[in-house]
Amino acid sequence: MSQSNNLPTEALSASHSSDGAGTSYYKHHIFFCLNERKNGEACCALQGAQAAFDHCKSRVKELGLSGPGQVRVNKAGCLDRCAGGPVAVVYPEGTWYSFVDTSDIDEIVESHLKNGQVVERLLTPPNLGR
Ligand code: FES
Repeated sequence: MSQSNNLPTEALSASHSSDGAGTSYYKHHIFFCLNERKNGEACCALQGAQAAFDHCKSRVKELGLSGPGQVRVNKAGCLDRCAGGPVAVVYPEGTWYSFVDTSDIDEIVESHLKNGQVVERLLTPPNLGR
């Protein structure tokens, strides 16, 4: 079966529900694009994506938020929204973030992943694709 929308495999399984009611294995599943391009084109890896991913994973663990029914932090390849990079996306909500530094990640963890409140100021503009 082919996948659509460049959605990471784990995101598809994370949002599966046998009754269609939208129950998710993880409450919030965040994917960080860590894609690196060697040809000089813009990519998330050259804009601090790995450090942001590492920081997010550490903070989620420190706060005791990781695990089934809670939060999962995963790597992803190019999510095709490079113009907004570095980017991360939270499922099942489908909330896209463009971040700059670890303080932005702290805000996403505290506000969205811990308390379920979207960080409006960090949302990726809807028109930004590749
Ligand atoms: S390189 Fe990160 S979204 Fe494409």
